[in-house]
Amino acid sequence: MLSKLRTLCLKGIDGREVNAEVYIASGLPAYTVVGLPDAAVKEAKDRVVAAVRNSGFDFPSKRITVNLAPAEIKKAGTHFDLPIALGVLAAAGRLGKKPPAALEDTFFIGELALDGSVRPVAGVLPMLLALKGRGKTAVVPAGNAAEAAVSGIKCFSASNLKEVAAWLNGGAELPPCAAPAGRVASAAPGTDFSEVKGQAFAKRAMEIAAAGFHNIILVGPPGAGKSMLARRFGALLPPMSPDESLETTKLYSVSGLVQAGRLISERPFREPHHTISDAALIGGGSSPRPGEVSLAHNGVLFLDEFPEFSRPAIEALREPLEACRVTVARVKESVAYPARFLLVAAMNPCPCGYLGHPVRDCACTPVQVAKYRSKVSGPILDRIDLQVQLSPVRYQDWEAAPRGEPSVLIAARVAAALEIQRARFAGSRAKANAFMSGAELRRHCALPEGASSVLETAMNKLGFSARSLDKILRISRTIADLDRCAAIKREHVIEAVQYRMLDKAAVPAGVA
Ligand SMILES: Nc1ncnc2c1ncn2[C@@H]1O[C@H](COP(=O)(O)OP(=O)(O)OP(=O)(O)O)[C@@H](O)[C@H]1O
Ligand SMILES: [Mg+2]
Repeated sequence: MLSKLRTLCLKGIDGREVNAEVYIASGLPAYTVVGLPDAAVKEAKDRVVAAVRNSGFDFPSKRITVNLAPAEIKKAGTHFDLPIALGVLAAAGRLGKKPPAALEDTFFIGELALDGSVRPVAGVLPMLLALKGRGKTAVVPAGNAAEAAVSGIKCFSASNLKEVAAWLNGGAELPPCAAPAGRVASAAPGTDFSEVKGQAFAKRAMEIAAAGFHNIILVGPPGAGKSMLARRFGALLPPMSPDESLETTKLYSVSGLVQAGRLISERPFREPHHTISDAALIGGGSSPRPGEVSLAHNGVLFLDEFPEFSRPAIEALREPLEACRVTVARVKESVAYPARFLLVAAMNPCPCGYLGHPVRDCACTPVQVAKYRSKVSGPILDRIDLQVQLSPVRYQDWEAAPRGEPSVLIAARVAAALEIQRARFAGSRAKANAFMSGAELRRHCALPEGASSVLETAMNKLGFSARSLDKILRISRTIADLDRCAAIKREHVIEAVQYRMLDKAAVPAGVA
């Protein structure tokens, strides 16, 4: 009359164990689910009844109580269908007189269709990872078999309820889950840095951004190649480590975006449109889901036409840029999603795009320019280390055959610089120069003889703030690493100053 089936649920991107207890008592037919279920879990009732009947079993016309324990965790999603249906069968004595031993150590996950077939669900990988190293087994939907195999947990794949019930009754074995063969195709061909003509300054800035994991903003007139450069940026970053790959795949799994069950092995590149809502960008919803910032975890978030994003969306970037994670608070729970991404933003210098253009006149009034730029508030710009102003492509550059360096050569230098940082930050929370704490900044960025005069000029003549000087030190450190220099040199500092030109005092109010 009482049965207990084991299953899992998600809290953020971590799996938690849940017991699906089913109690069948005599009395008027009723069906209640308790234990903080959300609407989708309550709907399981109708699916479970239909699936049980269409799998050739009677659904008991009695008083049925389903308890999903522990009750303090919010239960969301449709994957409780399978354990609940099996729990009803077990409590009704349809799985043998004595519950099979397998029930103790086997976790069940799956949504049921009305005909009893088992449908794939989101979040299988992070749920299963909660069982790692504990000798447990799981039964997952056949549609999630490849993703489940990646977890390293012993898993069986289920196609329908009848098959699982037969297996628990000592019938035919369920097929084990196997990892998919092959890798996901790498970056699309025809997207190489060598195709970008001219723009040597911007390319160099992108190399520095990749080499120190610095956020970067590109400011320039229409058609200068900002979007083109940004879309080629991902190729400069080194491949993900196995841990990074697993972390990113967990976020994709929770969002139901794991394709063919493969681990995400390429660094993500996300380019949401500027009409995106702040919830979709940051994460949220009544049943929290990771947003674009989390889907870009360990990769690149490209925000093209940056000032066109809504003010709340831009402001909401502050938390992930600062803490490398997002906390979504709801009435009954609060979940955190990792969001350590490299921000590449692109914008025009003014609404018409031609402010500062060597030939064309700008049609904007100073007020329009100030309003446009003020959308990118100081606190956000503060978290963007590199500011790059692009000029229009010159005819000589455009006409010349592409002769820029291919991405692989730049990526090799980036990888070498990041290797130096890995050694430098061993045992520290910072993994790259962009994440150095104040103390680390002082320890690793000592100024060379003669460099203080460069900074003094920047501060006194160009109006740079103390904050800008910190940024300059960070960038100088990365330039020195690219140069394989243990100590920062004066020339590194001079180059770094050029990447903070939006901080100059002569720009309209609201920019810096
Ligand atoms: N530096 C460049 N080298 C080669 N082609 C370029 C370059 N800049 C622009 N182009 C060409 O112009 C097209 C538009 O460039 P892109 O979209 O990158 O401009 P943008 O700076 O993002 O402009 P907008 O401000 O309008 O978004 C590219 O697809 C490419 O064909
Ligand atoms: Mg563009």
